[in-house]
Amino acid sequence: MQMVFFNKILIVLLILAGISIFLPGVYASENSCIDCHKTLTPFIEEQKRFNQIRIQHLERNAACSLECHEDRIRQLATANYQQWQESLHAIKGVACEACHGGDIKQATKEKAHTFKNTTDPESPVYYTNVPKTCGNCHPKELDNFENSTHFKKLESLQLAPTCTTCHHPHTFTVLNPEDFRNSCGNCHSVYKNVAPFDIPLKAEDMLRKVNKLKFNIDNAREDIFWAKKNGTDVGQAEKYTENALKTLGDLAPMWHEFNLTHFEDIIDSANLEVKKAEDIVKPTPSPTRTEPARVPGFIGLTGLISLIAVFYILRKK
Ligand code: HEC
Ligand code: HEC
Ligand code: HEC
Ligand code: HEC
Ligand code: HEC
Repeated sequence: MQMVFFNKILIVLLILAGISIFLPGVYASENSCIDCHKTLTPFIEEQKRFNQIRIQHLERNAACSLECHEDRIRQLATANYQQWQESLHAIKGVACEACHGGDIKQATKEKAHTFKNTTDPESPVYYTNVPKTCGNCHPKELDNFENSTHFKKLESLQLAPTCTTCHHPHTFTVLNPEDFRNSCGNCHSVYKNVAPFDIPLKAEDMLRKVNKLKFNIDNAREDIFWAKKNGTDVGQAEKYTENALKTLGDLAPMWHEFNLTHFEDIIDSANLEVKKAEDIVKPTPSPTRTEPARVPGFIGLTGLISLIAVFYILRKK
């Protein structure tokens, strides 16, 4: 009787052990940075609130002991893990050491941290070294960036953006057109006095143009599909849309030379290819088509802003 009871317990234990192997996170990863930084989470609400108060003190330059600063770094070390965890980098297995260096086989902080502090000019993530660090995996973006005025200013240690000014650590997301007003406007504004001042609006307009190009290419491909069904020879039209698609793929890396005139010329040339394709297949009416929501272009926006400005001045008088 007792034997049977023990056997049952043994079976339950074996099943539990089996399940635990498949539970994510139960098994130690091969990476001590992840293992350790994951556990730095400040679990207790009380502790979190306390940290927040201390950070606010720091930000207002209130006198602060070294112990307090360590706390801030510690909180960042945690927050960075949480942000990174949801990024495309995490999904693709680009972990902490890819940018920071260090020894992922060491379980203690002292031995794992073989890198220089982030504030050390020799650190791979020191802001002037960031382009090279990212460029190891994003060579096309780096090549274009190295041709930009931004890069030259960065090299001469002047106020200029580095990769992480626009792609925030550690989410490393791609910007939306709406984000430009804040991000480019951080420098390109009358207040900060970095010319050209109209950059945020121009940049926003440019990315909308990219989206419009995508829409045009989609439409052309749909038209080609129907024309082919109706027996039209679409070989040449397909070549034109392929050219436009290739250009579309080159646009994101090319963006990083921050030459908006060149960028616009390239978009226009791709739109011309799409138009050539449409000219071949156009006569075929396609069954459904919806225009994207109309947004005011650059001209429209600046017009609106000057109208408001005039109105404001008149009222003041
Ligand atoms: C045993 C725990 C542990 C391990 C392993 C560990 N860290 Fe840390 N790390 C910490 C703690 C705690 C901090 C907070 C600051 C401090 O206490 O020095 C930190 C801080 C950092 C910082 C900020 C340092 C600064 O001030 O510039 C970076 C960057 C960092 N860790 C990256 C890594 C990388 C990359 C690895 C793996 C190669 C790693 N860590 C492994 C615990 C660890
Ligand atoms: C794709 C590159 C990249 C990856 C991956 C990455 N970091 Fe960072 N990290 C940076 C850069 C760049 C900075 C400098 C931030 C700045 O200048 O604002 C930085 C700064 C830090 C800092 C200093 C505090 C701060 O926010 O300025 C800590 C701590 C840190 N990283 C921890 C980590 C941990 C832990 C991981 C892994 C979970 C990780 N990083 C993964 C690029 C990366
Ligand atoms: C070890 C290689 C590696 C390093 C170093 C690296 N990345 Fe990445 N990055 C990737 C991979 C892989 C992807 C996934 C997309 C792809 O396959 O091209 C990616 C994607 C991105 C994306 C697109 C994210 C999205 O949501 O679409 C951005 C932006 C980015 N990285 C910026 C950076 C920046 C900035 C740095 C430097 C601080 C950096 N990367 C360093 C490998 C790397
Ligand atoms: C001044 C802002 C800014 C700086 C600096 C910047 N980027 Fe970008 N990056 C952008 C914008 C905006 C996009 C989106 C472009 C688009 O969608 O056409 C982008 C897109 C990307 C992408 C995604 C490309 C894709 O195929 O979707 C990667 C990767 C990337 N940047 C890496 C980098 C690296 C590496 C650096 C530094 C060498 C860097 N960026 C510097 C603004 C910036
Ligand atoms: C950290 C500050 C900073 C940020 C953020 C910034 N820029 Fe700049 N930018 C500069 C500086 C500095 C110059 C050089 C101005 C000069 O000629 O003196 C410049 C110049 C330019 C130029 C003119 C280039 C040339 O060859 O004359 C363009 C275009 C530009 N930036 C686009 C952008 C865009 C688009 C963004 C946002 C996605 C952006 N910038 C964000 C600092 C910044």
